[in-house]
Amino acid sequence: MSRTLAILKPDCVRKNLIGKVISHIQDAGFKILAMKMIHLTEDSAKGFYEIHKERPFFNELITYMTSGPCVPIALEKENAVEDFRKIIGATDPAKAEEGTIRKLYAENIQENIVHGSDSDENAAKEISHFFSRKEILENNGWK
Ligand code: CMP
Repeated sequence: MSRTLAILKPDCVRKNLIGKVISHIQDAGFKILAMKMIHLTEDSAKGFYEIHKERPFFNELITYMTSGPCVPIALEKENAVEDFRKIIGATDPAKAEEGTIRKLYAENIQENIVHGSDSDENAAKEISHFFSRKEILENNGWK
């Protein structure tokens, strides 16, 4: 089993799509280990997206990610990172495959509804950005 971090981004929350997107994720066989709704601070968003800080879209990205609440979710499945990236589709919804979450619901390359970790190493870092060990239910005796 492996883990990945999803974030239902502020556009997902604003459009009342939380339920639909979580159903899509669960129907694809992912187990939810932890989930919360938060409003990211500028500092927290900058820390999370540190890897993109030299990109021309960085400031816009921080404004978007702090524009309203979002829902980080720690997920578990075999091959979690790769399988999650398959069901969300390409970063740019115009290039995403039919039936993927971004193709179904995303507006554009920035407002793209959902985040998914891009490697096992980043998944572990990203999960710990939002959740303490105690908040991950599996570490708490829940099966
Ligand atoms: P994600 O892949 O979750 O993490 C980086 C985010 O930056 C990406 O989703 C988009 O929300 C945003 N992003 C990526 N590329 C661009 C771009 N060219 N212009 C604006 N935003 C972008």
